[in-house]
Amino acid sequence: MNKATRKAIIAGNWKMNKTRPEAKALLTELAPMVADVKSVEIVACVPFTNLETALAATEGTNIKIGAENCHFEKSGAFTGEISADMLAEMGVEYVVLGHSERRQYFAETDETVNKRTKAALEAGLKPIVCVGELLWERECNITEEVIARQIKLDFFGISADDLKKCVIAYEPVWAIGTGKTATADQAEEVCAFIRDTLAKLYGADVAETITIQYGGSMNAANAAELVSKKNVDGGLIGGASLKAADFTTIIKAAEVG
Ligand code: 13P
Repeated sequence: MNKATRKAIIAGNWKMNKTRPEAKALLTELAPMVADVKSVEIVACVPFTNLETALAATEGTNIKIGAENCHFEKSGAFTGEISADMLAEMGVEYVVLGHSERRQYFAETDETVNKRTKAALEAGLKPIVCVGELLWERECNITEEVIARQIKLDFFGISADDLKKCVIAYEPVWAIGTGKTATADQAEEVCAFIRDTLAKLYGADVAETITIQYGGSMNAANAAELVSKKNVDGGLIGGASLKAADFTTIIKAAEVG
């Protein structure tokens, strides 16, 4: 990554894992292991039910807490949903939006990702917006078209100042939970393409400041090579974020960069 213009962010996405006691145990184990880390922003994005526990367990540490989604309306008749204001009021800092599992299983579209991103920004949250191509799209050689479309739609109407509060996670759908990581060169190629797309929309100076993470089977063994790439500014980690030792190894790899 380019350390002169941006800070690496290593974020765990716990998905639908961990009860409250398990969440407390994991964060309590993790906190002293990463207490000396300064050059990497550490985030744990946890299920809604764990947010309060996670915030309490990380108080006074260098671990920030995020949610895994939020709704785009401020309040109202949306049974089962959580608003950005509800998260912000709790002290939550980040929110994952547009994850491919949300797009795939919960019918989220670029339009709703765009609305959620705007709602999160308005509430003062930092969105981690996920983009990525399906295996079929990569095989059809349209990865760049897919990614450019997602970036243009997901950030439509969002100002440069607001974009600077966002993180983008490049998560090739075929690499998520499959044990099939993109090679470091593949990750770099698409992260660089995302930065070029942002440069066209917002100017190169803005694009240079945006943190672009890689996600998809990133683990203790492959993290160092991935984050050594110029345009890979950290990672969004699923499975490996559920183990304190593995997550710590990934964080330390990002410190080296
Ligand atoms: P895995 O690291 O388990 O492949 O998950 C990646 C991911 O989806 C993070 O958001």
